[in-house]
Amino acid sequence: MRLGRLLMASAAALGLAGVAAQAQEQVEVLHWWTSGGEAAALNVLKEDLQSKGIGWQDMPVAGGGGEQAMTVLRARVTAGNPPTAVQMLGFDIRDWAEQGVVADLSETAKAEGWGEVVPEALQFFSTYDGAWIAAPVNVHSTNWIWANKQIFDELGLAEPTTWDELIAALDKIQEAGHVALAHGGQAWQDATIFDAVVNATGGIEFYKAALVDLDPDALGSDTMKEVFDRMAKLRTYVDDNFSGRDWNLATAMVIEGQAGMQMMGDWAKGEFLNAGKQPGEDFLCFRHPGTQGTVTFNTDQFVLFQVGEEQRDAQIELAKSIMAPSFQSAFNVVKGSVPARTDVPGDAFDACGKKAIGDLAEANANGTLYGSLAHGHGAPASVKNAIYDVVTAHFNGEYDSATAVEELVNAVAAAQ
Ligand code: GAL
Repeated sequence: MRLGRLLMASAAALGLAGVAAQAQEQVEVLHWWTSGGEAAALNVLKEDLQSKGIGWQDMPVAGGGGEQAMTVLRARVTAGNPPTAVQMLGFDIRDWAEQGVVADLSETAKAEGWGEVVPEALQFFSTYDGAWIAAPVNVHSTNWIWANKQIFDELGLAEPTTWDELIAALDKIQEAGHVALAHGGQAWQDATIFDAVVNATGGIEFYKAALVDLDPDALGSDTMKEVFDRMAKLRTYVDDNFSGRDWNLATAMVIEGQAGMQMMGDWAKGEFLNAGKQPGEDFLCFRHPGTQGTVTFNTDQFVLFQVGEEQRDAQIELAKSIMAPSFQSAFNVVKGSVPARTDVPGDAFDACGKKAIGDLAEANANGTLYGSLAHGHGAPASVKNAIYDVVTAHFNGEYDSATAVEELVNAVAAAQ
C-alpha cells in the first residue's frame, strides 16, 4: 500500500477522516469581529462551515471600523500571501478589485441568483466592472441610539424625536449623576456620530451632498457649522475617560447602567444580546432624532483573494454559505444587522431587528438610503480619513466650529 493510502486508511480507522478533510479544505479569514457580540455572530459562520467539513483559520485584527485590519491586509498582499477571505467595507472593496487581486465570483453569483435579491445600493460595492467580487453578509446602519431602559424609566424620559428633546434627555441623565453619553474617543467612533448629526441637522439630501457627492458648498455651509456646534455640544456629555475607549466598552457602560445612551451602529445590539439583555425590557433602540425614514448603511462583505486552486472549492463554499437565506437570518439575528438579501423572512428577528428591516426597505424604496461615510461607504478611504482627522480634531477641542468647516473643505479637496 502506498504511504498516502496507508495514512488515509489509518486516519479512517481512527475516525479521523473528517479531520483529514478539514485539513485539506480550509479558509483563513481576516476580520475585526473581536467583541463578545461580534465573536458570537462569527461563530455562527464558523460552525456553518465546519458542518460542511471546511476548517476555519482565524485571523482577527481588533479595531472597529476595520482600519487596523486593512493595514494588516496590505502587508499580507504585498508579501504575496493574501488570506483566503477578508471582511471588508465599501470603497475598500472596489479599490482592491481595481488592483486585480480578488477572485471573480460571477459564476457562483449567477448560478445562485444573487443579482435578483441583493439591493442595488449593496451591489455597487459587491461588483466591479460587471463581475461579482464580494459576498455581502449583512446590512448595518449608523443612525441609531442605544439607551438604558431603566435609566429612561427612572427619569421619566421618552425616546427623543428632535434635537431639543435629545439635549433635554441628556441633561436629565447627566444631572442624575450618570454618564449621559457613552463614547469611545477613536476617530471612527467620532465619525459614526458625525454621520448621524450631519443627517439629522441638514437632512439626508444634505448628507448626500456633503459626504457622498463631496459638494464644497455643502461642506462649507452654515449647516455644516451647525453640525460642528452640535458635535461640540455632544462632547459635553461624555465622561473624562472617553479617549481611546473601545466601542464595546462604551456599550457595556449602557448595558451596566453607568451611562444613559450610546450613538452607535447596530452592532451595539449584538453586545446587549450577548449580555442577555432584551430590547424593550432592558434597552431601547431608536433612530437618531431627525433621521427616522433614512438609513446610512454599511454592509460587511467578504472578499475572496486570488489564492491557489486547491483553496478554490473552500472559497466558493464560503461564499455560498454566506449568501444562504437561512444563514443570513441566523447570523444577523446575533450580529444586530439585517440580511443583505431582500428575500429573507424577518420572523426570527427581535423588535429592533424588525424595525431595522422595515426602515431599510422604506429607505431603499424612498431613495433615502445612503452609504455611511464613517464606515467607508460614503467616499473612498483617502477622503474618509481626511474627514476623520477634522472631525476628531474638532471633537477634541483643537478647532472651533468655524475653523472645522474651513479645514473640512480643504481636507476633502486635498484628498481627492
Ligand atoms: C463596522 C462593521 C461592523 C462592526 C463594527 C465594529 O465597521 O461594519 O460589523 O463590526 O465595525 O467593530
